[in-house]
Amino acid sequence: MSGEARKRIAVLLSGRGSNLQALLDARQDAYEIVLVGSNVADAPGLAIARAAGIATFAHAHQGLKRAAFDALIDDQLRAHDVEAVALAGYMRILSEGFVERWAGRMVNIHPSLLPLYKGLDTHARAIDAGDHFAGCSVHIVTAGLDDGPVIAQARVPIMPWDTPETLAARVLIEEHRLYPRALAELVRTL
Ligand code: GRF
Repeated sequence: MSGEARKRIAVLLSGRGSNLQALLDARQDAYEIVLVGSNVADAPGLAIARAAGIATFAHAHQGLKRAAFDALIDDQLRAHDVEAVALAGYMRILSEGFVERWAGRMVNIHPSLLPLYKGLDTHARAIDAGDHFAGCSVHIVTAGLDDGPVIAQARVPIMPWDTPETLAARVLIEEHRLYPRALAELVRTL
């Protein structure tokens, strides 16, 4: 460690939070997770954050225009002096304005070898296509869904007996290895 302060990270999530857990467990000295936010009030990932003593917030997005909702999130990020954002299973498309504000400082993890299989059901689509490899990608967030420059990728072989569930489980193990490393590398450049 160079002695520089760890970068202050916010994680946004909508569900389980296993990638949040991996980001916490990795104890990287390049970053510190200071805030976890969600659009789902009872997302299990929020409980993981609370158990780790991290500040959390949840806003329901129902009834709010996308930009207005994202402005609420942006207020939270600024109030906590957040320097970069990691999306970890955040299941809501972000407004262009929010993406622009955090350009180059926001990453996402996606369970496919991007640019293949943006969107949902990535593992079923890879199996159906007869692919020999699946995997996961960490990319800089831009306005397009699961678009933006890929900064790290991990590959997993697809076995003949794989179902979307067995494949997802093996890819998830790689996600948990990849995301902390990729996030640390990115924030060192900020
Ligand atoms: C992961 O598979 C991630 O790649 C995708 O959503 C899932 C989130 O899982 N974007 P978790 O909430 O981190 O367990």
